[in-house]
Order: sequence, then C-alpha cells, then structure tokens
Amino acid sequence: MNNNSKVWLNGELIPRAEATVPILSHGFSRASAIFDVFGVHVGPKGPLAFRMDEHIKRLMKSAELLGMQMAYSDAEIVDAVKIVVRENNLGRGIVKMFAYWGEEALINLVLDSRLDLAIFAIPENEDLELDQPRPLSACVSKWRKIHPETVPVGAKACSNYLNGYLARRDAALRGYDIGILLSTDGFLAEGSIESIFVVKDGVLKTPPLGRVLSSITRMSILDAAPAIDISVKEGPITAAELLDADEAFTAHTGIKVEPIIRLEDRELPGPGPVTRQVMQAMTDIMQFKDDRFKNWFQDLS
Ligand SMILES: Cc1ncc(COP(=O)(O)O)c(C=O)c1O
Repeated sequence: MNNNSKVWLNGELIPRAEATVPILSHGFSRASAIFDVFGVHVGPKGPLAFRMDEHIKRLMKSAELLGMQMAYSDAEIVDAVKIVVRENNLGRGIVKMFAYWGEEALINLVLDSRLDLAIFAIPENEDLELDQPRPLSACVSKWRKIHPETVPVGAKACSNYLNGYLARRDAALRGYDIGILLSTDGFLAEGSIESIFVVKDGVLKTPPLGRVLSSITRMSILDAAPAIDISVKEGPITAAELLDADEAFTAHTGIKVEPIIRLEDRELPGPGPVTRQVMQAMTDIMQFKDDRFKNWFQDLS
C-alpha cells in the first residue's frame, strides 16, 4: 500500500504509518472491531461512491447489533470520506472504514466508550485488482458458516472473518480459489468474502438474509435482475441444489460478479447465459451506462 497516503482518524488526517492500534486494545485483542468497504469510481465530473449510503447504514447496523456506540453520524462520516478521498487524490479504488475500541481492555469491557473511527482511501493496485472478473473454482468448505445464534452474522465484524479465513485456507489447500460455507444445518450460506448466487432452469437464487452478511452487491443484483428480465428468488438452497446448479457466481464489492466454472469436481459453463447477463448489467451500471441506477452513486467531490 502507498505509505505516503493519509488516513482519517477521529477527525484528523494522519500519515498511514501512524494509523495503528494498541495491541491490548479491545478492538485488536478481542477482535471486536467492525468495518465496511465500498468502491470509488472515476465519474465524468469527479469521484463517485457506489452505494455509500447503504455501506454507512450497514456500518451503523454492525455497531447496533454488537451494542456499540458510533462516535459519528452518517453525515459526518460522509464528510470524512470526502476529505480522505480528496486528500489522497483517489481515483478508482475503495474506501475502508474501521470502527473500534482503541482503548486497552484486559478484563473489563469498555462498553461506555464510543468507537474510534479510521477511514482509508486505497487505490486499485496489484493486490487489489478491481473490475477484472476471473473464472473461479469453488469447493464446499469443511467449515460451516458461524451460526447466527453464536454471533450476529449480519454484523461486518473482524472476528467473523476467522470463519472466512478458515474456509479460504481450506479451499486453497485443496487447490480451489474459494470455499463455499454451508450453514450448520446444511444449507448454502456464502463464501468467505462473497455472496453466492446459483441459477437453475433460468431462475437466479440466493440464500435469504439472517444467516449471511447483508451484502450490498447481493442487494444490488436482486434490485437490478427484474430490470433485465431475470427472475430472482431469495430462499434456502440445499447443498444438493448448489451442487446441481446450472450456473453459479460470486458477488462482492471488489469485483461485482465472478463466474464459478468448477464446483467441486463438476465443470460449469463459464460464464453461463444468466451469469453473463448479470455481469453485463452490473458492468453497465458501474460504467454509468444505465441511468435507471444512477442514484446508486454519490458524488464525493
Ligand atoms: C462474508 C461476506 N459475504 C458477502 C460479502 C459481499 O458483501 P458486499 O457486496 O457488501 O461487498 C462480503 C464482502 O464484504 C463478505 O465478507
């Protein structure tokens, strides 16, 4: 990452190298930090954020689900994002926001403290290739998605990503690009950092909220599908249905849609007709060619 970049931290712009947390802080030592990430695009008149309002809403929701208090309002966060994007001269890239208890906490909780907030503006780079979908191989992970009665899976909490890390590691060791997690009762949940869609007989399907992160890309695809005449359903998907899908793809902020072309030992079309249509629709939206969705972008200048 560009070490000359500036980070917005609790109202100050500081050098990236100084944006650190104490190891004994609750956010780090108990992994209670929450975060959110959205894309920044180069618009005709300046930088545009993709569905920033929804991402900030989700950050607020993560705090609420975990009983934490944010120190800044939605509007204040928008202002902070504008500052950090401008000061870093960000073109295509992402904004990553972390809210965390930066105070040391050995035994006692720091429940009354408001969360610190750090905002990073990160340009596209070789570790962060945006807009370049790759055909993926996927396996069903030996790890199950954390059960919503253990922690709220709708919170984008750092600790929840241990589950995702294990699934990615398991997949990599088995020679697959990604691992797909089933819920503890055997239904399709999601990937480590991506939502999963399947297609059967022309119908697009994805698991319901409640057991998966409320992905903004997932929501966008659900909103856009009817506009391109694709039938879409949110509902439980069994492992057998997943393995028998005609097509499957992943969805996440970094790269909107990536086709799965190998699922365990089965080859899938890469990409199949419905996946291709969804990819095209999302590309058109991201390239500002579809006016029906232009309110999904917010001006950052
Ligand atoms: C577990 C999980 N599911 C789904 C997604 C996709 O969410 P979004 O579309 O908001 O990036 C992510 C990405 O952050 C994720 O971490």
